[in-house]
Amino acid sequence: MAIKYYEESGQFHLYNDEVSYIFMRLKNGQLGQLYFGKRLPDIPDYSYLIEESRRDMAACPDEDDIFFSLESIRQEYPSYGGGDIRYGAYEIEWENGSSITEFEYKTHKIYKGKNSLLGLPATYVEDENEADTLEVILKDRKNEVKIILSYTIFGNFPVLTKNARFVNEGEEKATLLSAFSCCVDFPDKEYVMMDLAGAWLRERNIRERRLDYGVQSVHSMRGCSSHQFNPFLALRRENTDEFQGEIYGFSFVYSGNFLAQAEVDNYDVTRVLMGIHPNGFRWELSKGEEFQTPEVVMAYSGQGINYMSQTYHKLYRTRLARGVWRDRVRPILINNWEATYFNFDETKILDIARTAEKIGVELFVLDDGWFGQRNDSTSSLGDWCPNLNKFPDGVKGVAEKINALGMKFGIWIEPESVNRNSELYRNHPDWVLGDLDRNISQSRNQLLLDFSKEEVRDCIYGMIADVLRDMPVSYVKWDMNRSMAEVFSSGNDKTYQGKVRHKYILGVYSFYDRLTKDFPEILFESCASGGARFDPGILYYAPQGWVSDNTDAAERLKIQYGTSLVYPVSSIGSHVSASPNHETFRDISLQTRANVAYFGTFGYELDITKISEEELEQMKEQIAFMKMHRELLQKGTFYRLKSPFEGNITVWIVVSEDQKEALVGYYRAFQPSNAPLSRLKLKGIAGNKKYLINGTEERFGDELIQIGILTSDYSAGVWKKGKDGQGDYMSKLYYLKEE
Ligand code: DGJ
Repeated sequence: MAIKYYEESGQFHLYNDEVSYIFMRLKNGQLGQLYFGKRLPDIPDYSYLIEESRRDMAACPDEDDIFFSLESIRQEYPSYGGGDIRYGAYEIEWENGSSITEFEYKTHKIYKGKNSLLGLPATYVEDENEADTLEVILKDRKNEVKIILSYTIFGNFPVLTKNARFVNEGEEKATLLSAFSCCVDFPDKEYVMMDLAGAWLRERNIRERRLDYGVQSVHSMRGCSSHQFNPFLALRRENTDEFQGEIYGFSFVYSGNFLAQAEVDNYDVTRVLMGIHPNGFRWELSKGEEFQTPEVVMAYSGQGINYMSQTYHKLYRTRLARGVWRDRVRPILINNWEATYFNFDETKILDIARTAEKIGVELFVLDDGWFGQRNDSTSSLGDWCPNLNKFPDGVKGVAEKINALGMKFGIWIEPESVNRNSELYRNHPDWVLGDLDRNISQSRNQLLLDFSKEEVRDCIYGMIADVLRDMPVSYVKWDMNRSMAEVFSSGNDKTYQGKVRHKYILGVYSFYDRLTKDFPEILFESCASGGARFDPGILYYAPQGWVSDNTDAAERLKIQYGTSLVYPVSSIGSHVSASPNHETFRDISLQTRANVAYFGTFGYELDITKISEEELEQMKEQIAFMKMHRELLQKGTFYRLKSPFEGNITVWIVVSEDQKEALVGYYRAFQPSNAPLSRLKLKGIAGNKKYLINGTEERFGDELIQIGILTSDYSAGVWKKGKDGQGDYMSKLYYLKEE
């Protein structure tokens, strides 16, 4: 890995064994982009890649050079203007109303390692030799404003990270109207854009579309990264599949409003922008102030989509997630939400806990409803003290009794929200987001607290920290159950209002930061009505997240499969719930429900006091199985083999780093009639190793890769002895162990 600067050509080349990223100073002082992709030889001058062309109607900044037009030059961090008519990476409004800027290269520095971003989550290094960083300083010709562009290249990942910082050193105010974190101009448009789209209960389904002229985008204006779109997009070549071909990933380490777009201009250049959504964003910088954009993680794979995903998985599992739980296997938990909803008391909770302990569950999670007077969603958010009607000895009493059973105790919180029917709201009605003289929309009977304000955060923090200090809490589920609607911060002036959405997210991060520092042993799981805030930003604080409120195994296949495009198995909160399922009313066998949930942080979420002894026995076996394989599942390399978005069969496999063991999950939605014979060819395992499959059959890796496992006995409606494996929503695991 290296970062080279060639003074004569003005060229920067950032590279490691797999990728190159090259840009240079242009003759007008701006930065021009030359290349991003598979590693190229390190030569001092690639400037021939700048394609200057005469376009008669184009604006040219230099009147003596009609070939030099920003309209046709690929740029590093452009603004609209000076001839570039595409969407810019930033827009600054000066005091006179002009938004014309001329940022020119001034200097740069290169250093080992990677600095953290003030107040923002970001990937990190543990040793400075893991990465090199370049900071390029640009300065406006007229005003004393700088832009510092930061780039980090990792040695062991085909990844480059980018962010930008704006610093105002002059008297003139500079108001940022937009400030994206990265811009990449690709020289052609022959790409298929992949993104993750959906809604509540069907988050992160994979979507693909061919790029075409104009803008195609994903975004959130909901104040959270959202159920609807994830802060991620990828561009792949048409013939790229899971195992071959080129793909470029863009993943935004941020949990609030975002915009990620690919703009194809009429010369077939594709400009990718990713950053904070400009809508509602207006950030005034006075002298001495600065603005830091969040980080974008750009990944390149020349070996298909899986390799891009594996890159993100490993980077995010080991160099984004932090804390003591980063590398620990996750406890098998039981959560009472789908078992009881709000309807529980100490007796019920302890009944569930006692039964759970008998089958080997390690952690009991007390979900919503333990505080204030909360018996439904209409009251008490904001009143973070235990409900003594439900728990005569307080929640502390329950926690201690659960500990005495030999299980850890975890608790649910929703710090950002308040019900009108709460002591907190009655005392501080002005602490909510919204214009107090106008209507403020409720969602799930709740309002959002103005987390941009320190005093609001401090008050909530005090209450929650008291609870966590008072009792033995090992796990916290941080929920957030609504989008932002009317965004206004009362008591603050006009200039503050354009900052509220971002300051709110910075407030969430500082709250998380405080919690994780004060309670370093607690395992945090993020949640937002399921998966509305499942993003890299939150992963920095909480190493696992609840991917969806939909616990139906058939739907979960799609959700987990889509989520795996970017996020590691260790981050995917997945539980076995009741059948028929509460969201889809579908019946699926206990075995298939577990077979899906194993590929995540495993747990149960149903009333196990009401199920048969036979099913309890089965769960006991499942838990023993998970305990045996969770190290492999949570740290192994994950491959998608067959997509639920393309057919009846879904398959994935996790292979240990040393390739000595692997676990295949094979799922069939519908029972076909008299179907053809089928084989499943494996990937990721070692061809020259001999594996024992499910403790019975021996096969060489090469056989399993070239010929595959025979799966037709499970999929064909072919008559077999017994009924094992027949019917809809059937699944099967294959555990491979080197002989
Ligand atoms: C939404 C979450 O996704 C659920 O798991 C549960 O915690 C409820 N909120 C509680 O209100």
